Amino acid sequence: MKSILIKERIHYLGVNDRKKHLFENNWPLPYGVAYNSYLIADEKTALVDTLEYGSRPDYMDSIRTILNGKPLDYLIVNHMEPDHSSMIGEIIRNFPGVRIVANDKTKKILDHYYPMSDEQFLQIAEGDVLDLGYHKLTFVMIPWVHWPETMVTYDTTDQVLFSCDAFGAFGTLDGGIFDDEVEFDSVKESEMRRYYSNIVGKWSGMVQKAFAKLSGVPVSVICPSHGLIWRKDPAKVLGLYDRWSKQIAEDGVVIVYSSMYGNTEYMADHIARELSERGIRKIQVFDASKTHPSFILNEIWNYKGLILGSCAYNGDMHPTMSTLTHEIAMSAPAGKVLGIFGSSSWNGAGVKALKTAAEKMKLNVVCDPLEILGVAEAEKLTPAAAFADAYVAAYRN
Ligand code: FEO
Repeated sequence: MKSILIKERIHYLGVNDRKKHLFENNWPLPYGVAYNSYLIADEKTALVDTLEYGSRPDYMDSIRTILNGKPLDYLIVNHMEPDHSSMIGEIIRNFPGVRIVANDKTKKILDHYYPMSDEQFLQIAEGDVLDLGYHKLTFVMIPWVHWPETMVTYDTTDQVLFSCDAFGAFGTLDGGIFDDEVEFDSVKESEMRRYYSNIVGKWSGMVQKAFAKLSGVPVSVICPSHGLIWRKDPAKVLGLYDRWSKQIAEDGVVIVYSSMYGNTEYMADHIARELSERGIRKIQVFDASKTHPSFILNEIWNYKGLILGSCAYNGDMHPTMSTLTHEIAMSAPAGKVLGIFGSSSWNGAGVKALKTAAEKMKLNVVCDPLEILGVAEAEKLTPAAAFADAYVAAYRN
């Protein structure tokens, strides 16, 4: 692949991964994912993060081509998750004089993966400056975005922010790698929000702390480790991440159900209609047994309302709803207006389990659950009107 220059002496060295089915072996990748690595070929040379192991066969050759006979002086490790760090061993083998640049927390993790001598390691702290010649790099710790050791690297010369997972997205870079080379359409924004809600969302408070640390720092280019490089409109991605990390939701209600024989499903559609009749204009209904939690979480993150329903199953809620509520608790979207419903044949185990799950999700159930026994026929669903009245009243508050 041709070398792509981001700023003077700063090269993009990324790759698209369309083979992997599940990111972190959990999150579906219908549009793939991009791993971005950057090489600064200055008087001193520095690689900023690596790639997932084996994802780019010409990686070493490309580095050598750009270095053009120079040694690789530094490898800066912003984050140790293996989608960015698993080529560190190969870099050390191919460029034996390289020094690994990282903070103290990263070193502790590094020791478990790539033990190295003191001479091979250069420990930096927040605010330290690594002078490459033209480019002067400094470091800002952004713990938990997305692991405890994570930091960003900032080039004070050209105001380039190497932000690692922050400001990243799912989706490959299909031709265009800069924001001004593609149309950032609704699919791309949704894939960015899905990445945010699935990977980073749990740490939204830490994202806000990172924003506070970086406030006032001028940024001309954002170079994340996944997704587009933002050089025309970095404010766009900053604004989206700011909004999501503040958990500012749009008007709308997501209804999700798990149903074995159609009764809880029928209830979901009935509730959706009742909400529609009360003026809710954005309603999305999902079958948790069909749609992966990754996509449902994305919509939950986007909308203010959430209604979950489950049939009873072995004295609990249905396994697919159990998985979803676990993922919601992990992702920790805040402030959702939560309603619950369900059906059963002889007890209310699904609804009861959903009440317990609400506590784990740290979400308040805003009205009495809607619950039926047996067939979801019209007469039994008469209380759905009162349920919808109470839910919409809470929603509008
Ligand atoms: Fe893309 Fe947390 O690694």
